[in-house]
Amino acid sequence: MKVLTTVKEVREHYRISVLRNPGFVPTMGALHEGHLSLVTKATDSCRMVAVSIFVNPTQFNDPHDLLRYPRTLDADLEMLSGVLRENDFVFVPSVEEIYPEPDMRRFDFGDLERVMEGVHRPGHFNGVAQVVSRLFDIIRPSAAFFGQKDFQQLTIIRELARREYPRVEIIACPIVREHDGLAMSSRNRRLLTQHREKAGEIYRTLIAASAMISDYEIPEIREFVADRINMIPDFRLEYFEIVEESTLKPVNSVIEMSPEKKYYGCIALWAGEIRLIDNIETGLR
Ligand code: PAJ
Repeated sequence: MKVLTTVKEVREHYRISVLRNPGFVPTMGALHEGHLSLVTKATDSCRMVAVSIFVNPTQFNDPHDLLRYPRTLDADLEMLSGVLRENDFVFVPSVEEIYPEPDMRRFDFGDLERVMEGVHRPGHFNGVAQVVSRLFDIIRPSAAFFGQKDFQQLTIIRELARREYPRVEIIACPIVREHDGLAMSSRNRRLLTQHREKAGEIYRTLIAASAMISDYEIPEIREFVADRINMIPDFRLEYFEIVEESTLKPVNSVIEMSPEKKYYGCIALWAGEIRLIDNIETGLR
């Protein structure tokens, strides 16, 4: 694999290669098995793969979170070298390379950003859209791989691609979990030991909540989730919503649900100082 840091190097790589529309996996580094599952899926289906590692400042609504975001480039490259092939590349740009001047674009995703992360992390999806569109312009992928872990992000990227990058196929990849069910995340390594030990409860709660759909009303399920999460010392629920897959419209009563549609129970919570998100497919089927 090659490691490229500038747009010019990417152009040059495409010039000397017969292929120029890779499968693309954007990341912010601190890679784990979840990221690697995306990369493996990309190498399985694409003859050339590009992985980007870029901690995008514009999507952090909390400067403290940006400062503390784990940066483990050497270990990341080591991991990727086990999966990527000779003609594949890792793109590790500087902030100046991605944003030669401040990005003033404002994306409007309508109702898709008026729920969940969009409400609790103002500006976050605008920053995600800025960087992903910038990366798509540089990499010019034929397909891009995103994890279902960031369920709302995936929906928003699909919308961005539908509007502006119709030739980029967006491929969703399932959530990879630790043995106790905790969804893998770069932020997990910042969890205190006592919080990490309890964090498997998040997925167990999602499973239980999902099973309640047939016998309980949504507010009861929400209360159940809140009680169970808030019972853990230092854990605090931020939200739990059951939303329809494509519109992200929150469901407030089981009667609004259709057996033909897919729904997801989405959770955000604080474990001490660390904010975690997860989700589970649910519904009447
Ligand atoms: P990051 O959090 O590094 O995640 C990169 C990709 O890996 C995302 O598509 C995310 O959904 C996926 N991913 C993370 N944990 C996963 C898990 N446990 N199982 C499956 N997939 C997982 O998401 C971002 O970076 C950024 O917002 C980015 C899209 C790169 C734009 O900056």
